[in-house]
Amino acid sequence: MKILITGTGYVGLVTGIAFANFGFDVTCYDIDKDKIQLLKNDKCPIYEKDLEKYMIKCKNNIIYTTDFKNSFKNPDVIFICVGTPENNDGSANLKFVYEICDKIIENVNNDCVVVIKSTVPIGTNDIIEKFIQDRIKNKIKIYVVSNPEFLSQGTALKNTLNASRIIIGANEKYAKDIMLKIYKPFTKNPYNVPIITMDRKSAEMVKYASNDFLALKISYINEISNFCELVGANIEDVTLGMSYDDRIGKKFLNSGIGYGGSCFPKDTKALHWLSKDYNSELKTIKACIDVNKKQKTKIFDKFNKYFKKINNRNVAILGLTFKPETDDIREAPSIDNIKLLLKNNCKITVFDPVGINNIKKIFKDKINYASSIKECIKNKEAVFIMTEWEIIKNLDINFFIKHMKFPIIFDGRNCFDLLLVKKYKVDYISMGRENIFNLNKNKEI
Ligand code: UGA
Repeated sequence: MKILITGTGYVGLVTGIAFANFGFDVTCYDIDKDKIQLLKNDKCPIYEKDLEKYMIKCKNNIIYTTDFKNSFKNPDVIFICVGTPENNDGSANLKFVYEICDKIIENVNNDCVVVIKSTVPIGTNDIIEKFIQDRIKNKIKIYVVSNPEFLSQGTALKNTLNASRIIIGANEKYAKDIMLKIYKPFTKNPYNVPIITMDRKSAEMVKYASNDFLALKISYINEISNFCELVGANIEDVTLGMSYDDRIGKKFLNSGIGYGGSCFPKDTKALHWLSKDYNSELKTIKACIDVNKKQKTKIFDKFNKYFKKINNRNVAILGLTFKPETDDIREAPSIDNIKLLLKNNCKITVFDPVGINNIKKIFKDKINYASSIKECIKNKEAVFIMTEWEIIKNLDINFFIKHMKFPIIFDGRNCFDLLLVKKYKVDYISMGRENIFNLNKNKEI
């Protein structure tokens, strides 16, 4: 069985490596020559735990190429794993998906299953099948299958090999059988991944409904967290109390400065846009988007409220990526906060274990870049924590006291235990919890 993966981003590359790992003959195609060259040199172009190790392990089963003519000629299954970025109005942009369709139309010359893994609006699989079938030159049959992806960045390989579920949306038995065949190794010990088959539209909806539900859970808990601040409750005790009800569970109930990344922001907006297209606005999704937009800069609001004057403050930011264990800064709350701080003429120094190069591309020489936490916080009047990296969570509070001008911590990710922080001479402002004011505010502050 010959598998062609188109698009070597998080989804494509990890999917390709997972199939190659199970002994399939895999070709990974991308238009990005630099990325393909890196892959050919056994270098992983994305920051993802263990991926390079697996890449090397299965290198005999996988080819990386930019040659679409040869790679599209006769695969049995083609996975479309290209990006579907958002348009200005929030709808999904399918330009890259159609570019792959054009290559299929031009080059494929045997019956084949086209699997859409990219997140696409409900109904796209039907449209794509007709689009290809109407135009394909050779008299061959194309079966389009929806197979949404549920991996998270940072745990991508684990989430693929030990997936919570594999969703197959196929309208014909032939296509469904091929999919069951290629995913069979995932269902065996020790992986034991369940496979759920359904029609294509339902499969497309599972993806949006899952991502938007998780985003909604975050916005919900952030709103409750903000309310905890008003009434004097502690969000961590509240979520702990809630989590003992297994209908609620304890996952995705961490309050903070909102969700970012390439998925939740895009997928909430896309489903909301789609619902308006059907004249039936999804009001919970709209609320989720609105809450998150405000939440991302809540930590700046706290900073603004704390100081009499914020202009020209010399501040540090620890953590820039949208979450730990990734170098991805797309839609990261750090970006919104840096923009606001710059608007108020603050002098900013940032640190992140792996995200610095990406943030440099946006802010260039407008901010300072530190290569260590110590360098970042040295002599600063306040520090913000935007991402809960382990090395940040493991800091000793004395470290802030020793190196900062004023040990004032704005923790957007609740990295430290309140009872512990209370013992130190610092001011500590976090999310959904009591503020700690242990510094004697003097005139200088
Ligand atoms: C998300 C989903 O979790 C995956 O299941 C899905 O496959 C993926 O999108 C996708 O559509 O490709 P990802 O974007 O990698 O994965 O990141 P998450 O771990 O879901 O985190 C998203 C954001 O939510 C982060 O900014 C994180 O800080 C925030 N978050 C998460 C919270 O603020 N609180 C929480 O309790 C959990």
